[in-house]
Amino acid sequence: MTTVDADVRARIARHGPIPFHEVVAAALYDEAAGFYATGGRAGRAGDFLTSPEVGPLFGTVVARALDSWWREAGEPSAFVVVEAGAGPGMLARTVLAASPACAGALRYVMVERSSSQRSAHSERLFLENPVTAFAAVPDPADDETRLPAPDGPIVVSIGELPRLPGPCVVVANELLDNLPFGLLERTGDGWSEVRVGLDGGHLVEVLVPTEGNPVPRASVGARVPVQHAAATWLREALDLAGAGGRVLAIDYASTTADLAARPWTEWVRTYRRHERGGEPLAALGTQDITCEVAIDQLGTAPTSDRSQADWLRAHGIDDLVEEGRRVWRERAHLGDLEAVRARSRISEAEALLDPTGLGAFRVLEWDL
Ligand SMILES: C[S@@+](CC[C@H](N)C(=O)[O-])C[C@H]1O[C@@H](n2cnc3c(N)ncnc32)[C@H](O)[C@@H]1O
Repeated sequence: MTTVDADVRARIARHGPIPFHEVVAAALYDEAAGFYATGGRAGRAGDFLTSPEVGPLFGTVVARALDSWWREAGEPSAFVVVEAGAGPGMLARTVLAASPACAGALRYVMVERSSSQRSAHSERLFLENPVTAFAAVPDPADDETRLPAPDGPIVVSIGELPRLPGPCVVVANELLDNLPFGLLERTGDGWSEVRVGLDGGHLVEVLVPTEGNPVPRASVGARVPVQHAAATWLREALDLAGAGGRVLAIDYASTTADLAARPWTEWVRTYRRHERGGEPLAALGTQDITCEVAIDQLGTAPTSDRSQADWLRAHGIDDLVEEGRRVWRERAHLGDLEAVRARSRISEAEALLDPTGLGAFRVLEWDL
């Protein structure tokens, strides 16, 4: 039995069956024994592969997008980008390595809940003290406190969304699917909440009747997620981005009605060391637990919703791949680092645009 198992059992023994989202929260984020506290992470050496971890191309395209938004905003002297759920920091590293035109103005704020992953940020990036870096951001509401903006990029790493004068860009890659979620099940008598109880020492699901009818025509046995944490996160991110800002969430996403029509085991997935893990209540804390995002539950409809493949194309991935092909043609016979990087760009693009994989992810954008 894992430490998280023992803790969850103790809570159930005290309070009776507990909500599913509490169990997911403990399994992923328990500060001592949760999946992310004990080394779980994105990356080839980790548990699952995300777009930034495929290689530098994803970050290079994000850097292009940041440049286009910086130019649209009139090239401000301080341009704040907040990356939420930064994991081990690969997106930040690859964005900066692409030397975007906005680099001099860039304040790049990595927000990562797990302290063990935060500690990886300083291994490859020079981090500034958040207090000094934030103080250097001019507050448009208060001319008196306006400070000269030092040259960027300035990079900081913190544990939760900051409070900053807007506008800013908030980016989250595969964060929302990783926020704790609840579950409802359609029964013969309406909908029930799936709670977690104990039976003979085993964690079991317990159905507790509840109000509401999230998907009127769902069949008996259908399940839907309840994504309050994702909606709360979006509300906070929109507040932070402020007027003139932007929020970008990239994830596997769908709608509540669509999820109700599919087996729940298809949209609640677990991962461990690049393999699908066991059922979500097994060995709590030893596997990632994720849930496809129901876009209609986020509270505010996105301004735009397109596939990752379309978004990457809109921000110039094809030009970058073409450049990679040219360099490969010219330098393949040398077999030097530049040639190898150029060839790898071509295979990275295939993975990022794959319509049956990462290319099918949704890029949700809220322009404020
Ligand atoms: C699936 S990983 C994605 C990591 C990275 N964005 C990537 O694409 O490789 C999700 C990350 O979000 C972090 N996380 C979860 N909830 C968070 C929150 N409320 N604020 C900041 N980070 C959070 C987790 O600790 C985890 O590192």
